[in-house]
Amino acid sequence: MTERILMCAPDHFEVAYVINPWMEGNIAHGDNKAATRQWQALARLIGKVAQVERITAAPGVPDMVFTANAGLVLENKFVLSRFRHAERQGEEAHFAHWFDAQGFEVLTLPRDMPFEGAGDALFDRREPLLWLGYGHRSDQACAPLIAKWLDIEIAPLKLVDERFYHLDTCFCPLEGGYLMYHPAAFDAVSQARIIARVPAEYRIQVSDADAMNFACNAVNCGRSIFLNRSSDALKHALRSRGFAVHETPLTEFMKAGGSAKCLTIKLTEARQPAAVLAVA
Ligand code: ARG
Repeated sequence: MTERILMCAPDHFEVAYVINPWMEGNIAHGDNKAATRQWQALARLIGKVAQVERITAAPGVPDMVFTANAGLVLENKFVLSRFRHAERQGEEAHFAHWFDAQGFEVLTLPRDMPFEGAGDALFDRREPLLWLGYGHRSDQACAPLIAKWLDIEIAPLKLVDERFYHLDTCFCPLEGGYLMYHPAAFDAVSQARIIARVPAEYRIQVSDADAMNFACNAVNCGRSIFLNRSSDALKHALRSRGFAVHETPLTEFMKAGGSAKCLTIKLTEARQPAAVLAVA
């Protein structure tokens, strides 16, 4: 099956406020033309292995370009995000409308329960399990509702480094059951939870330098991986597991605290069959 991925062109993208440390000092320091070139290059690369769908960018919500935060998709269900910051809450209606028009069942959390979608909720690729990052943006309190709606087990992970404020900035489940992640972004209990759940041979540890280059914020489609930048050591680790690594600069989006994965959301999200576990 061809994967479908939703992106939003940076027509109205700029750093207009500060809601994460990456945005500090960057207000009005962006170059929208450069951002557009970088975005188009990413869309073109992804378009070689998946079908790229687009949602029209709306004025007044510059971070709408980060479609990972639209919500969480599983099969035909879509859990709409509830943004923590007022600056992004205007995006919710646009995403709700688009997913509804596409035939998804749109599930809505209470207004006062922050949840930032596929930025903080990532499916394991080895077993039916949803990892939920909390501590900066999403609230752990949303876990029971999402577990019930999507009929899936949820493993919470506490994020403790404000540079890695969304789970997808430091944690990336990959095809074949692998997991690329930056351990220091998590508290000790969460690090232990990851180790207990993901066998050593499936874990790929990412250094601070690679994490700061948003290497964990990678788009993975089949055996292709798209990311801003990776060290030779990380490229080697990924290639030796059968992945093709494609670098494409996304520096304009890093000024807002985002990169490749944040700019996408997978619309074709199938349930991971439990049987894979028995084979692994
Ligand atoms: N400026 C945006 C924010 O702080 C960046 C979002 C990046 N998205 C992501 N999935 N990590 O919310």
